[in-house]
Amino acid sequence: MSELNSALEHPKYNYKVVRQFAVMTVVWGIVGMLVGVWIAAQLAWPALNFDLPWLSFGRLRPLHTNAVIFAFGGSALFATSYYVVQRTCQVRLISDKLAAFTFWGWQLVIVAAAITLPLGWTSSKEYAELEWPIDILIAVVWVSYAIVFFGTIMKRKAEHIYVANWFYGGFIVTVAVLHILNSLAIPVSMTKSYSIYAGTVDAMVQWWYGHNAVGFFLTAGFLGMMYYFVPKQAERPVYSYRLSIVHFWALVAVYIWAGPHHLHYTALPNWAQSLGMVMSIILLAPSWGGMINGIMTLSGAWHKLRTDPILRFLVVSLSFYGMSTFEGPMMSIKTVNALSHYTDWTIGHVHSGALGWVAMISIGATYHLIPILFGRQRMYSIGLINAHFWMSTIGTVLYIASMWVNGIMQGLMWRAYNQDGTLTYTFVESVAASHPGYLVRLVGGFIFFAGMLVMAYNMYMTATRDTVEEEDEQANANTAPA
Ligand code: HEM
Ligand code: HEM
Repeated sequence: MSELNSALEHPKYNYKVVRQFAVMTVVWGIVGMLVGVWIAAQLAWPALNFDLPWLSFGRLRPLHTNAVIFAFGGSALFATSYYVVQRTCQVRLISDKLAAFTFWGWQLVIVAAAITLPLGWTSSKEYAELEWPIDILIAVVWVSYAIVFFGTIMKRKAEHIYVANWFYGGFIVTVAVLHILNSLAIPVSMTKSYSIYAGTVDAMVQWWYGHNAVGFFLTAGFLGMMYYFVPKQAERPVYSYRLSIVHFWALVAVYIWAGPHHLHYTALPNWAQSLGMVMSIILLAPSWGGMINGIMTLSGAWHKLRTDPILRFLVVSLSFYGMSTFEGPMMSIKTVNALSHYTDWTIGHVHSGALGWVAMISIGATYHLIPILFGRQRMYSIGLINAHFWMSTIGTVLYIASMWVNGIMQGLMWRAYNQDGTLTYTFVESVAASHPGYLVRLVGGFIFFAGMLVMAYNMYMTATRDTVEEEDEQANANTAPA
């Protein structure tokens, strides 16, 4: 292994840590999505809980969200940000040792999550479930990440700081602030702590964190990815550099206010709910500005979509980004939220962002990186990337369409009442009516998951092929006339 690593050592840049994170992106993608498929099956057939506490839906669900967001998405963000910052600043990371610490530290966080969540050790804050010792480890790793990233920017050779780094930088700083403030707690034992906030304040701090976890972890970081990999793969400059700067400042200025849309019709003061709603609607503008900037980068290169499945991944992810950032502002309108809240519509919205945007852009960027990181000219099989693209797209569409149907049906069934004021449907009737939708979601999710296995195979074959010559021979054989 160490021989392989030294053979792949780049003379100028630290590719080792990028490669480690890129490989773990695929590994954690498979693990996190497998748990997703499992809990999707549990919602269709609750007997799959097997009456075992550590296999119960309530424990596996946070395992899924932590694995896909922080392990899969996080590894993709680490890999691409370390790659992009080196390439665009034209210098090596400031410290190989600290970068290696962030890799092993982050893997330790993930393993600790995978052990403690099924055991039921949880702070019960959504997307921040991990208990205080792990929270401290996260804070240490994250601050080290910030030092590596910003330190590299400080010693850059290129005068200019490319816009992708602004987005990565914004994401790193904001996530540090969010994580540290939201996780402040009083420990009562090694495995239990209580938040220092109480009641409505606790709820507001939690959703200030929760929404910005979406805005900065699941969006700003991935926009950094978009601003580097879309122009690279399309071999075109960014459509408008000026728009990208306006996009950055508008997005970070508005996102931070939108959290209260998660707390409509709660004990949160009404003015705060309305403020969250208004800010969420305004958020449509910078979100679409960024999406249009990404898609228009293909001007003059649209024909490449016919032959390049990696570019398809990137562009389709932007379309899903546009769709979920249109849907989000609509759902934040209080009267719409009265229908959508607590229903599967929210789950559909989440996965149009999570599968369509976050996962697909990560997959596209990782396919771009793998051959570079393993010293190859291209991926082992372009056909398999294409197959993966269709599996991801079909899987996402089946997932979100079934959840829209379920969500709107549930919302309408819950609010239907008879002339005498009694409810038309019992809750259980709405659960039974949701069953077909759960089956379709399971099929869609499984197809998406199976696509990740195809990716792992393609990555393994790319990495283990002996020489570039061998690759060329095969390319010649494939294109030789019959
Ligand atoms: C094979 C792919 C996937 C499947 C089958 C799947 C399935 C599920 C299921 C069944 C739930 C629980 C829904 C409920 O409580 O009613 C869920 C929740 C969630 N998943 Fe996934 N998922 C997948 C991929 C992903 C990815 C890639 C991400 C993020 C990058 C993600 C993020 C989330 C989040 C944030 C929630 C919580 C939603 C909420 O609380 O509103 N999922 N997923
Ligand atoms: C302009 C952008 C967006 C706005 C205004 C927005 C708005 C909303 C609203 C109103 C909800 C429902 C809250 C509720 O009823 O409980 C929601 C839920 C959610 N959204 Fe978005 N959304 C946006 C973009 C995105 C994107 C791009 C992603 C993913 C990458 C995403 C991930 C989520 C998640 C994970 C939840 C579920 C939170 C939970 O209850 O656990 N959103 N969003």
